[in-house]
Amino acid sequence: MEEKVKEIVQRYSGDKSYLVPILQDVQKEFNYLPKDALFSVSAHLSVPISRVYEVVTFYKAFSLKPKGRNQLSLCMGTACHVRGAELIASNVSDILGIKEGDTTADLEFSFETVGCLGACALGPVLVVNGEYHGHMNIAKSTKILKKLGKKVATDDEQD
Ligand code: FES
Repeated sequence: MEEKVKEIVQRYSGDKSYLVPILQDVQKEFNYLPKDALFSVSAHLSVPISRVYEVVTFYKAFSLKPKGRNQLSLCMGTACHVRGAELIASNVSDILGIKEGDTTADLEFSFETVGCLGACALGPVLVVNGEYHGHMNIAKSTKILKKLGKKVATDDEQD
């Protein structure tokens, strides 16, 4: 981990004004921000660890918890909510066996709900590994999870 962090810091010539992009790259590398990596960034940039944590906790995009290989974000904004996003959230949670905001134990899936994604006309919107899937419904969400390799007990999906 130490070597990888060092390499990332060097990409930015060790310039502490690049703290945010450096942390973004570290997160990309490990899928989250491990504690050791944060200490390493702090040491390489000579930035106090308290400052590093301040930045990490300020930006919602940073995660101190391990994230799954597949990341699902379901919009819970008003337009998506009134079109049944709540039911889709329950379906995804049930299939994955995790609560919203959690990651499966095998680190295959993370599931979170988010505020309006600015694509209300497509609502409900489920973002899967960065790709927007509009007009989402329970059956479609089940299908997506199956496609991603999740075993689903029931086979009674409809489009
Ligand atoms: S409310 Fe879901 S995209 Fe706007």
